[in-house]
Amino acid sequence: MKTFYLTTPIYYVNDKPHIGHAYTTILADVLTRFHRNTGEDVFFLTGLDEHGQKVQQAAEKRGVDPQKHCNEMAPRFLELWENLHIQNDDFIRTTEKRHVDVVQHILQKVYDKGDIYEDVYEGLYSVSEERFITEKEAKSGEFRDIKELKEKNYFFRMSNYQQTLIDHIKNNSGFIQPEHRKNEVLGFLKQPLEDLCISRPKSRLGWGIELPFDSDYVTYVWFDALINYITAPGYNVNEENFNKYWPANYHLIGKDILTTHSVYWPTMLMSANIPLPQAIFAHGWWLIGESKMSKSLGNVVDPLGLIEEYGVDSVRYYLMREMVLGQDASFTIESFIKRYNSDLANDFGNLLSRVSNLLKKFFDGKIPQDEDDSAEGLDVKSKAVETVAMVWEKIEVMRVNEAIEITLQFVRSINKYLETKAPWKLAKEEPEIAGKVLFTAVEALRVSAVLLSPIMPNRTQTVLETLGATESGLDWGGLTSGIEIKLHDPLFPRIDIKKLENSVKNHGEKKELKNVITFDEFQNIELKTAKILKVEKVDGTDKLLKLQIKVGDKQRQIVSGIAQFYSPEELVGKMIVVVTNLKPATIFGIKSNGMLLAAKNGKALTLMTIEGKKVSSGMRIY
Ligand code: MSP
Repeated sequence: MKTFYLTTPIYYVNDKPHIGHAYTTILADVLTRFHRNTGEDVFFLTGLDEHGQKVQQAAEKRGVDPQKHCNEMAPRFLELWENLHIQNDDFIRTTEKRHVDVVQHILQKVYDKGDIYEDVYEGLYSVSEERFITEKEAKSGEFRDIKELKEKNYFFRMSNYQQTLIDHIKNNSGFIQPEHRKNEVLGFLKQPLEDLCISRPKSRLGWGIELPFDSDYVTYVWFDALINYITAPGYNVNEENFNKYWPANYHLIGKDILTTHSVYWPTMLMSANIPLPQAIFAHGWWLIGESKMSKSLGNVVDPLGLIEEYGVDSVRYYLMREMVLGQDASFTIESFIKRYNSDLANDFGNLLSRVSNLLKKFFDGKIPQDEDDSAEGLDVKSKAVETVAMVWEKIEVMRVNEAIEITLQFVRSINKYLETKAPWKLAKEEPEIAGKVLFTAVEALRVSAVLLSPIMPNRTQTVLETLGATESGLDWGGLTSGIEIKLHDPLFPRIDIKKLENSVKNHGEKKELKNVITFDEFQNIELKTAKILKVEKVDGTDKLLKLQIKVGDKQRQIVSGIAQFYSPEELVGKMIVVVTNLKPATIFGIKSNGMLLAAKNGKALTLMTIEGKKVSSGMRIY
């Protein structure tokens, strides 16, 4: 039997799950349900990443032991998966013994092979990212908490596998998907690949899996976490099961964790002599409106709240329909409700109410005898067959949103067919024809419900129960004549716009109240005028400029990401506005003491300058 092994990232337990985590897991659930429906032997894995600094810090913040913290967080994820109707086959937690054993086994194997060596590392470390970063990365301006660190550590000879990895990516066109992500990784691999620091001294970071060859160290969280994908199917324990499912068909990931999955992971597997996964698929990012979801912006969408308000299936539907796999998508309550009302309430839900009302009115609520053999009737039938084939083609190439749209087009065509044939008019004069039309419409509705069942398992089940066809499949002809249809509540009651206002309040999107600051809070932000004295480019990056500015009688240095918008020459002499009490940061190895203000809209940026005869540097702005 054909197998299909799909994984999600394992989620950090530093915080409760949000809509981004829910998205990847729903996507995995939808894909695996489609594959299961075709009779494949599916293994769907999700789980939790419980080690490392992020989790350790979250536990410290709560004043509990990290294991206890993990044990308390895990049920939150499990509860969400249950509420989202996720049918995963396994749920792995990296603190489980089965996983610790495999990680130590792999470490020993790679060590014995000579691919792990000891070295003193002196360089830049990003505390927030929890890893050593290259000069180049530091210069990108994307890392904030950067510090110099000198430490003895263990390194994995990732560099040894650079060329083999490049060849593998080039020879296996579907290994990294979509295409633009593959190119991104190949671009990254044009630079010499550095070895990977895979240990953390216990004295600095104790929460991790102990190295089997040095008990003073724990394993770097990524070296540990990635291995979950082979632990779960039974690597080194249940070889038969492992060989059945590995190599995985897909590792589904967000674009944020592309490098770890397509560079670290394959090279680790190469070193351990384990076959590589068949494909890594990176999806885009859910933005809230235009912005990234973040706690500090107060715009984190809680999936449980949404489910409570609109039902699990509409949340699943929206997330799957709205995101083009591979690109970013914008979550707004407005678009959610628009989508719900048009696709679910109007097109799909209405079709069920319509046909069941007609059957009740004219046919004692029973499924009629024959199908419509007129040209229009046969057209619906052939469209059904075509739709089934097209949907599967789209699913196989991970175009879930297109698969849904094709199904909805079919649903709309059934509604149109009913309007054209108007069985309510035929019912009195030509009841037999009216019956045939209704049979065809109901059968088409049944096929669309089966097609949508991986996306909306709950509501489509109601449709199939109503039609007495819960056991039917995708082949045309699954209805049983004479069966009495069951009563049902509206599938998707229309949402009225007033609800929107409430949900905006409840779910944090545009949380106006959260954005309000008190006058005292505003007073805490020290904005001052500053004169630019000297500007230099920062070597090795085309984004950053180093500015010497004068604030009153004091001089200070700031680093700013405006090099693509201003040349050093045009800046000198300008009077700008600077936040002067921002905590100093080291950007690209250079101290930055303050931040200038600028107006930005997409790719355009204009510096905020201030002019006037009475303006001098160091004036406070209120
Ligand atoms: N623990 C690591 C992954 C280890 S895998 C061996 C990790 N965890 S995470 O909790 O930060 O979650 C990462 C994943 O959550 C992302 O890759 C993505 O799948 C999902 N998302 C988190 N925020 C998201 C959005 N805003 N939008 C879409 N998905 C996002 O990284």
